[in-house]
Amino acid sequence: MELPSPTLPLAILTGISPHPLFCMLLIFSFSLHASSAILLSNDTDKLALLEFKSWIIDDTLGVMSSWNDSLHFCQWVGVSCSREHQRVTGLNLKRQKLVGTMSPFIANLSFLHFLDLSDNSFQGVIPEVLGGLSMLQNLNLSFNFIIGQIPGNLSRCSNLINLVLDHNYLVQEIPPELGMLSKLTRLYLKNNNITGTFPASIGNLTSLQSFICPITT
Ligand SMILES: *[C@@H]1O[C@H](CO)[C@@H](O)[C@H](O)[C@H]1NC(C)=O
Ligand SMILES: *[C@@H]1O[C@H](CO)[C@@H](O)[C@H](O)[C@H]1NC(C)=O
Ligand SMILES: *[C@@H]1O[C@H](CO)[C@@H](O)[C@H](O)[C@H]1NC(C)=O
Ligand SMILES: *[C@@H]1O[C@H](CO)[C@@H](O)[C@H](O)[C@H]1NC(C)=O
Ligand SMILES: *[C@@H]1O[C@H](CO)[C@@H](O)[C@H](O)[C@H]1NC(C)=O
Ligand SMILES: *[C@@H]1O[C@H](CO)[C@@H](O)[C@H](O)[C@H]1NC(C)=O
Repeated sequence: MELPSPTLPLAILTGISPHPLFCMLLIFSFSLHASSAILLSNDTDKLALLEFKSWIIDDTLGVMSSWNDSLHFCQWVGVSCSREHQRVTGLNLKRQKLVGTMSPFIANLSFLHFLDLSDNSFQGVIPEVLGGLSMLQNLNLSFNFIIGQIPGNLSRCSNLINLVLDHNYLVQEIPPELGMLSKLTRLYLKNNNITGTFPASIGNLTSLQSFICPITT
């Protein structure tokens, strides 16, 4: 965000008394600057990516080798950043023959909109801290070896449009909280070991266009 340079001292020097509203606006824009300064720190993003890398135990295609200090992390294979603040907005590592587990540190990529780790060999559970990714719109983890239950905390990803978890080893019921994802248009859960009844709350998802029913009772 481009803010006007503070012209207030000049106004005082030239004897023109500034309008009080202008002063208020000025204070407001300074406080905006101060608060975005905290968000601007992209060290957390780099650390999160390095943690993510450290949980990959096999990388036969060597895709993660570009994730090194000779390149800015925005240039690492699969990483997309916002142009302005260089924060990670996308992670696309689809079909890269990666073996490992998903580090909970991904949840620190607070500007993440797009996460596609589909068609690899990710094991372990979906970290429930992913519920903290409030900007996430697309999550595709299909065709992996993911176990455990779908975390109910994913319902906190209120911008989620596509939740694609098919072809894994997920178990237990669909958490009813997912009915809170009002923007959800695709929910793919087939080829898992999900059981139980279809939660009534999912019927409240008016944007839902395709739901691939997983229920195997
Ligand atoms: C870092 O990544 C770049 C781009 O893939 C590569 O050319 C370079 O050899 C890598 N450096 C190391 C030390 O692996
Ligand atoms: C990032 O996430 C991890 C695990 O969820 C957490 O332990 C860590 O404190 C977080 N914060 C930073 C700034 O990396
Ligand atoms: C999810 O990933 C799978 C496997 O890579 C792909 O076939 C599918 O089109 C993706 N779906 C969405 C909605 O992104
Ligand atoms: C999951 O969400 C609940 C409340 O909805 C919260 O108490 C809990 O700390 C969350 N867990 C994580 C790991 O974010
Ligand atoms: C999933 O179901 C298949 C049969 O449909 C079974 O062989 C397998 O053991 C089940 N896995 C889990 C993790 O429950
Ligand atoms: C569906 O939405 C209505 C209206 O918002 C609400 O009263 C009801 O409890 C919801 N049903 C479920 C099962 O969440």
